[in-house]
Amino acid sequence: MVTHIDTDFIIVGTGIAGLMSSLRAAEYGRVILVTNGELQASNSMLAQGGIAAVQGDDDHVLLHIQDTLQTGQGLSERDIVQMIVSMAPDVITQLRRLGVVFDGDATGHPHLGMEGAHSRQRILHIGGDQTGKGILKELTKHVQSHPNIEIYPHTYVYDLQISCGECTGIWAIHDDHHILHMNARAIVLATGGLGQLFSYTTNHSLALGDGYVLAQRAGATLRDMEFIQFHPTGFRSHRKTDKNVPLISEAVRGEGALLVDEHETPFMHRYHQHKDLAARDIVARAIYSEMQAGRDIFLDARNIPDFAQRFPTIFHTCMDSGINPQMQLMPVVPVAHYAMGGVQTDSYGHTSILRLFAIGEVASVGLHGANRLASNSLLEGLVMAERVISQMVALPPVPPSSTLSDSLLSSSELNNFMTHPSDHVLEKVQQTMWGHVGIVRDQEHLSFALKELSNELIKLPKVPDANRTVVTAAIYVTRAALWRKESRGAHFRSDFPFKSTLFEKHSTQVKETQHEP
Ligand code: SIN
Repeated sequence: MVTHIDTDFIIVGTGIAGLMSSLRAAEYGRVILVTNGELQASNSMLAQGGIAAVQGDDDHVLLHIQDTLQTGQGLSERDIVQMIVSMAPDVITQLRRLGVVFDGDATGHPHLGMEGAHSRQRILHIGGDQTGKGILKELTKHVQSHPNIEIYPHTYVYDLQISCGECTGIWAIHDDHHILHMNARAIVLATGGLGQLFSYTTNHSLALGDGYVLAQRAGATLRDMEFIQFHPTGFRSHRKTDKNVPLISEAVRGEGALLVDEHETPFMHRYHQHKDLAARDIVARAIYSEMQAGRDIFLDARNIPDFAQRFPTIFHTCMDSGINPQMQLMPVVPVAHYAMGGVQTDSYGHTSILRLFAIGEVASVGLHGANRLASNSLLEGLVMAERVISQMVALPPVPPSSTLSDSLLSSSELNNFMTHPSDHVLEKVQQTMWGHVGIVRDQEHLSFALKELSNELIKLPKVPDANRTVVTAAIYVTRAALWRKESRGAHFRSDFPFKSTLFEKHSTQVKETQHEP
């Protein structure tokens, strides 16, 4: 039994890009907002450091552009960087209008934080280290009270409806058993990233790569899937945490904390002139090298006087594990954090399929290149949520959904359908990716990973469920990593340790086929 629903716009994902685009789209028509979890379940919710935007007198948009391009290592697109970074101050103004209050002084001047590879202090934050939560809280209030927005939580999208080359809707399973077919004139994927494909990640438990797989299956192009950013400072706690590793924001180093070994000796000066505030890929690999040499690595924040006030979330996380960051070193480890690549889009969020848009982490619009500049991602999500609207509202309606055929799932397939990956399959993927497609890669490990993942895929039923999705998403990353025979940004190959002019280009994947250079 299928329930058919017609609407104007469907937004999949309830992070910052999904909520903001829903709110904007609702000014023009009916919106259905779908998430596989609760409202707000997303990586945006966990974002600590902040949102980068030029604000200070000593700063300039050109400097922010330059920092972004330099960090992107030749693969960011200049016009996109320029467009997104230039809109940052406006985005901050719009957020304030929506009720978002950034940390600042009594006159409204924001306190600006510092993060790696930024040449100026330009990170706005909320509640010290609760920036994502602070923004989502306000956006959620608006979304929930908007008469044009209908929210479908616990709704797993398993397929996109493609008619005559256009995306006209989605197929989804609601509450594990009820099939929904939704029809709309525009569909936006704002499904976030894929950090949960790795054993250790800062990402939300739902960051399982769904959007990439949905889009690629439908025929959209994926780009730069090899570029996975490892955050240098996941909290290496001795307690078994939930599904993710707590983050120790880069803003902590921005306030003066230093990376040290177990003898309290700083080491970053041996790796880069910007030491602890070098770009993330450099810091993550430096920590990895130190750990490979048998040293334990810590963050020393004892010099930050008001740590508990400035970083309340981090403070409480550490205290819960018996570590007082004001008096003790915090043990850290690099962990999977952000997918730079994704569904290829133009500057308005169009994918290669008509009526299908992608924004936020799931998209590859061209901002981050081979390595994302810290705190540029909330910014990207918000800018693209605005940009996509002008395109969506200009689209003509599509025929009603009831004219379409029934679900392609048989009742036995539906009974066995996994809307969340099984522990066995997810662990297999995570161990394979962490062990063989991690911070340092080479041909042998990558080939092994691809074989393991392909074997796993063969064993799975041919239904587009969550088991198949996680394995497929992992294959996309591994394939792209095998293709890029050089080291650039977050992608480091020990067998090709330098940049190569042959690879000054994007990797692309279309319907199971990698485009060779
Ligand atoms: C952090 O606070 O270090 C994370 C911010 C980001 O990933 O941009």
